[in-house]
Amino acid sequence: MKIDILSLFPDMFNDVFNESIIKRAKEEKLVDIKIHNFRDYSNDKHNKVDDTPYGGGCGMVLTCQPIFDCIDDIKTDDAKVILLTPDGKTYNQSVAYDLSKEKHIILICGHYEGFDERIRSICDLEISIGDYVLTGGEIAAMAIVDSITRLIPGVIEEESHLNDSFNNNRLDYPTYTKPRVFRGMEVPEVLISGDHKKIDEYRKIEAEKKTIEKRPDLIEK
Ligand code: ADE
Repeated sequence: MKIDILSLFPDMFNDVFNESIIKRAKEEKLVDIKIHNFRDYSNDKHNKVDDTPYGGGCGMVLTCQPIFDCIDDIKTDDAKVILLTPDGKTYNQSVAYDLSKEKHIILICGHYEGFDERIRSICDLEISIGDYVLTGGEIAAMAIVDSITRLIPGVIEEESHLNDSFNNNRLDYPTYTKPRVFRGMEVPEVLISGDHKKIDEYRKIEAEKKTIEKRPDLIEK
């Protein structure tokens, strides 16, 4: 999968995309991530990317030209262009699954006080990662790239994400590792029994209990 990100702060992505699973996925060519500083596309002699809002108001607004020109330059026929904005569709695991099947996605990170409304016209989808306002779309882009990359076939074992929280509207079951007793807290007996039918049943029940307790809204879905 090809992922292009338009951002005024490309350095923000260095650490996140060069560690752990994303780093390995890039090395194995399962994902190709490029960051584009759309300031480089500005026609302004001072490389300006923003201006004052028509009608007045505080703050600066991202202008259309650098973003439109950058998209014209990098867009392929398969590309899905996504704008990161707090008024977009709320992101979740089901959207992550859908996006992980795309060939090419382009993420546009907004910044400052907002962006010219006409930028929405070149986007196929608008995504918010939650009902709060970030200083820009970069952290949202990182969260989306991370959650999509792990779902690309070959990146992690499929079994590892089949039981993920939110699949089938259930949270993940509780897991334990050695030692059997830690500070008086014991691992449930059934997990040591070796009886896989019983273990599967236990995990199903515990996932259900955890969901009812922590996220009853998922059950209602
Ligand atoms: N930009 C600012 N806030 C955002 C949010 N919650 N989700 C996506 N992009 C954003």
